[in-house]
Amino acid sequence: MKQLVPQNPKLDERGNIDEAVRQLQDWGVLVGKGACNHASFEALRKAVHEHFKVPWTSITPAMERLLYAICAVNRPRNIVAVGIFCGNTLIWNIGPACGPGKCYAAQRLVGIEVQPDRAGMARDNLQAIGVMDSVEVIAGDGHEILREIDYPIHLLYLDCDCPYKPMLDAAYDKVSEGGLVIAHNTIHKGWAKQESSQEYLAHVRDTSVFRESVSVEPDDLGIEVSVR
Ligand SMILES: C[S@@+](CC[C@H](N)C(=O)[O-])C[C@H]1O[C@@H](n2cnc3c(N)ncnc32)[C@H](O)[C@@H]1O
Repeated sequence: MKQLVPQNPKLDERGNIDEAVRQLQDWGVLVGKGACNHASFEALRKAVHEHFKVPWTSITPAMERLLYAICAVNRPRNIVAVGIFCGNTLIWNIGPACGPGKCYAAQRLVGIEVQPDRAGMARDNLQAIGVMDSVEVIAGDGHEILREIDYPIHLLYLDCDCPYKPMLDAAYDKVSEGGLVIAHNTIHKGWAKQESSQEYLAHVRDTSVFRESVSVEPDDLGIEVSVR
């Protein structure tokens, strides 16, 4: 199992995430050659922190920057995020492709949320920073919506509070070669002890399914980043 813990106390948040990006590039997980555009990230963070209404979130500051950096470096054309709650988890994944943090042009930015009131909150938040015209927020069950998608997915982000493997199964044939699947919460004790979670991790770490898979741990929730 490959593991990356960007929590070096001698480095600040930016330095730790830069180190993580370099390592992910060395391992061939990130194919983009550049570095994170931190000035664009700071512009996005300012707008989100000023304008988003967030009842609660499990996305830490270090995770905000890591998710942004992965997207900024790899520049996925089509991004789909499942379980977006009020949009605070979506925005860090799509931020390099829209609004105040934009540093490249993408084609499709899609967020899926099963609870319609939460999808509404996400739309309001995205509207508040002026990016709603670039993003599709779909209220519905991720399994059904992923199965219907008829375009390649270059970055799939999973943050739904239901088992990840069936969600991934619904999308796997659309994940492009070299495409990333990022799953949030994967070192959280409550998540990791579930059988379905272990099944997910074993599946994405099977090299016949994903070329590479790394646990990236900037905080105590972590993400699993898998490259097809
Ligand atoms: C724990 S929340 C994610 C919160 C996120 N980590 C944050 O900090 O903002 C999980 C979300 O997944 C949504 N969800 C659960 N099952 C889903 C499904 N089948 N399809 C789409 N969304 C789903 C829930 O409604 C909830 O809003």
